[in-house]
Amino acid sequence: MILPSSIQEVNDAAKIEEVVGDFVNLKRRGANYSGLCPFHNEKSPSFNVNPARNIFKCFGCGKAGDPITFVMEHEQVSYPEAIRFLAKKYRIELKETESSDQQRQEQQAIDSLYLINQFAQEYFQTQLFDTDKGRSVGLSYFKQRGFREETIKKFGLGFAQNDMDGLLRAGKQKGYNTDQLKKLGLVTQYDRDFFRERVMFSIHNLTGKVIAFAGRIMAKDPKQPKYINSPETEIYYKSKVLYGIFFAKKAIRQFDECLLVEGYTDVISLHQSGIENVVASSGTALTPDQIRLIKRFTNNIKIIYDGDAAGIKAALRGLDLALAEDMNVRLVLLPDQEDPDSYIQKVGSEAFLAYLKEKGKDIVQFETELLLKEAGDDPTRRAGVLGQIANTISKIKNPLRRDEYVKVTRQVLGVDEGRMIFEVNKLLRRDLEKHQALEGVTPPSSDDSFPTEEYVSNPVMAEAEMSVGDEFQEKHIAHILINAGGEWYDQAHNTTVAQYVWINIEDVIDYFDSNLYKKVVVEIMQRVNQGLDISAQYFINHPDTDVRQLASTVLTSPYEFSENWELKHEVFLNQRKPEDNYFKDAEAAVKRLKLRKIGRIIADNHAKMKVINQGDVEQLLPLIKLDQKLKAMRNQLAGELGMVVVK
Ligand code: CTP
Ligand code: MN
Repeated sequence: MILPSSIQEVNDAAKIEEVVGDFVNLKRRGANYSGLCPFHNEKSPSFNVNPARNIFKCFGCGKAGDPITFVMEHEQVSYPEAIRFLAKKYRIELKETESSDQQRQEQQAIDSLYLINQFAQEYFQTQLFDTDKGRSVGLSYFKQRGFREETIKKFGLGFAQNDMDGLLRAGKQKGYNTDQLKKLGLVTQYDRDFFRERVMFSIHNLTGKVIAFAGRIMAKDPKQPKYINSPETEIYYKSKVLYGIFFAKKAIRQFDECLLVEGYTDVISLHQSGIENVVASSGTALTPDQIRLIKRFTNNIKIIYDGDAAGIKAALRGLDLALAEDMNVRLVLLPDQEDPDSYIQKVGSEAFLAYLKEKGKDIVQFETELLLKEAGDDPTRRAGVLGQIANTISKIKNPLRRDEYVKVTRQVLGVDEGRMIFEVNKLLRRDLEKHQALEGVTPPSSDDSFPTEEYVSNPVMAEAEMSVGDEFQEKHIAHILINAGGEWYDQAHNTTVAQYVWINIEDVIDYFDSNLYKKVVVEIMQRVNQGLDISAQYFINHPDTDVRQLASTVLTSPYEFSENWELKHEVFLNQRKPEDNYFKDAEAAVKRLKLRKIGRIIADNHAKMKVINQGDVEQLLPLIKLDQKLKAMRNQLAGELGMVVVK
């Protein structure tokens, strides 16, 4: 085991910008850096590196963490491996304790499972290429199915003879432990080889190690299963594995899409035809772990199933889970009697890809049409479909996407938008209440990007509302007040942050666009005046749901925003550690808000001036004076903020 002091040394030495900088082209932006995220495919940089806090965060895919996390994710290695990696980079000599006997044994046992599987793969491969039976039965079978030798080798295909204990004997000779051969399912409890008279498929994990096998029967025998598989072990959890992921991961990232098929042979065939971004669920519905595995590489899944009813139902079962992870899922049904393997061998890769493009259908839309078809003309059943689709849509986290789906499906369903929104909102509220009942108070925290966090108050429309007016600047003020209202702005003059903010924005409070933020600001002031507590804790337990939600997101959201967010909404944080220094943040926030509000007051004033008769100097003069005064204020603020006012 690596000593804690050594880990500490690595932690202290590893600079996030240097560690990330080895893999990502970073550009400096103020105190931070940004670049293209290495964890998902993107064209504009949303990957941020914050040297002050020594963390990275991608505002596109949500990945975040410290240098060690970065290495673990990027290199797909374990925690100790990441420590060793960094120690090497920073030339730190790691001090290690002897690991306990038990730990060492456990690790050795796992290592030997991998080792034995590797041996078994080589054994099956030798049987395939170097024995008469293997060549005449196994190899000729694969060749007749169109698999080339290089493909067979790459995927670790092999052959198991009709031999009682060939593998067991070979294993023993190499000194492998019989119990472990049994544990891996290669040998039965009666000391016989488990896989016999079958062609063999190796199953690899993400890093390319062989973790299990599948054997396909040669003879057509209805009494025997077509495929038999290794049992689950410490190195093989079926529900976490996707067949082919090791060979596909690079192409999935590159094309920002993962094709999902059912069978081993489908993966191999597509791969051989140059379509490499493909994995198989091995005949079952997608599990949450499998979806998360795909999500590490892309948000886009295209499911390619046969057109039979069972295939369709299997595809739909994974749907809610994928939607909840904000994945885009499309479905392609192949022509009758075809699976991806047979179809690509028939038409070739170009026509195959064209077919996917033409026939791929969004899965929510697909489900809507399918259910409607099943419901026929029955009005009750059709009404039921509305509920089912609303339920599907309510699983989507991103409000913008929900909105899109409402628009598409309500057309297919022939109901008006208001009705559809109503149905979806009803379900969202119910989920939220359930959640709150379970968790106490806080709503599900989506993530800490500002624009989507408020969807619960008005689920479908919130996003559209958020983007109008000065809500972002108002929210920034509310955040500061909740987070740091009670801190000193100027201790020498006995002024708190809340007092400073209030004194400066009281005159524009009626210009707030958001009632929620206005309410928060006003309430804080009332409490300050009454000498009451204004800690974040107070707002977390606030009687008003909206305020509670705001408070909980404030507390979970780190003080950093993506580059685009900052530019788009003109909220700039001029310091990164609010706990050290609140007043700068408060000052900047106040100035930005006022700058915008003054702009609005100037416009109002102009509107008033316009309707006054040009000769009516008595009425006009005060407005002109006000205009001058406002403009002077605006220019001063802009100057202080280092901005240029565009008229
Ligand atoms: N499967 C399984 N056990 C079975 C049948 C199927 O584990 N008895 C899984 C396998 O992962 C298989 C997938 O379901 O690859 C799809 O089954 P199927 O379409 O029947 O097999 P194919 O992969 O098409 O195999 P082949 O083309 O060789 O018939
Ligand atoms: Mn097939």
